[in-house]
Amino acid sequence: MVAAGDPESFFATSPALRDASAVAANLQEFVACNSHVSSEGGGRRRIVCVTSGGTTVPLEQRCVRYIDNFSSGHRGAASTEYFLKAGYAVIFVHRRGSCQPFSRFLPDDSFLQFFDVTTDLKVQVVESQATVVKKAIGDYRKAIEGGSLLKLPFTTIFEYLQLLKMVATSMSSVGLHGMFYLAAAVSDFYVPWDSMAKHKIQSAGGPLDMKLSQVPKMLSVLRNQWAPLAFCISFKLETDSDILVQKAEMALNKYRMNVVVANLLATYKEEVVIISNGKSNTIRRCNKDEDLEEHIIKLLEKSHSKYIYSSTEGRNKN
Ligand code: PMT
Repeated sequence: MVAAGDPESFFATSPALRDASAVAANLQEFVACNSHVSSEGGGRRRIVCVTSGGTTVPLEQRCVRYIDNFSSGHRGAASTEYFLKAGYAVIFVHRRGSCQPFSRFLPDDSFLQFFDVTTDLKVQVVESQATVVKKAIGDYRKAIEGGSLLKLPFTTIFEYLQLLKMVATSMSSVGLHGMFYLAAAVSDFYVPWDSMAKHKIQSAGGPLDMKLSQVPKMLSVLRNQWAPLAFCISFKLETDSDILVQKAEMALNKYRMNVVVANLLATYKEEVVIISNGKSNTIRRCNKDEDLEEHIIKLLEKSHSKYIYSSTEGRNKN
């Protein structure tokens, strides 16, 4: 493994993000619309950037093979729904093809099970699913048409980190009212673009010997440079329960996160430990029909309000 690169050289050597100027323009408009205070005092929403799904690491520039990260995107998609319900505007930075807000209930194998063809050859939703589909369409359209949901897709680690930087710098004007909820599973190791094979790696040469560089941890850059006032929540995923809380506490202190949500691969759907300020709070769901994310977002919304209140109070006293 090669030593961790610095963030500047990571960005300088990454392939440019496709449609970067269009993405930046959309972002600016979204942030401006949601942070604008009308003369009546309305219009302003808190903004949260939710990251979701796993990043890939391509092994070839004309990519045939890649290393992937575990994440279906369910946590990010469900959390986005609850943030919208709580009145936040959401920038949903998600892996292409991963779970999406308001459609995560669709069956994995075939969504064709949801449709029927009528005798006059019209397509309609099967009666048993009609209520749930109507509600999902209504909620989704309300979020998109009401300007409170912006979806930005990524596949590779290069795209993900460029998007995160773009979102963070666009959100800097929102200050204390901005939140980052970093649920994406982000690659720790990668092949730098300039040392990556251009074409498909050939198997005729025998076993593959490959060095991976460390992806720079962007949590410190996010906290210290891109969004110093934002309320930042990072996730910690481990497979060994003996080190989970200790690693999460380390991340809280080292990267000055406001909250770390710790979860184990074996139980991440059933429980998480929320760690902040020396306190830890285990949240469990009571049954399979319940979303753990509903409880997580309720708690985070409260902590965010307290953070805004205490930061504003502190400033007013000085
Ligand atoms: O999508 P689901 O299937 O529902 O699964 C949800 C989940 C288990 C993926 C989610 O709950 C979760 O734990 N996400 C974080 C996974 C992860 O990358 O954990 P980590 O321990 O490797 O990284 C910790 C933090 O560092 C993350 O917030 C990540 O954004 C950040 N990081 C990681 C690598 C890197 N190079 N830079 C970073 O900033």
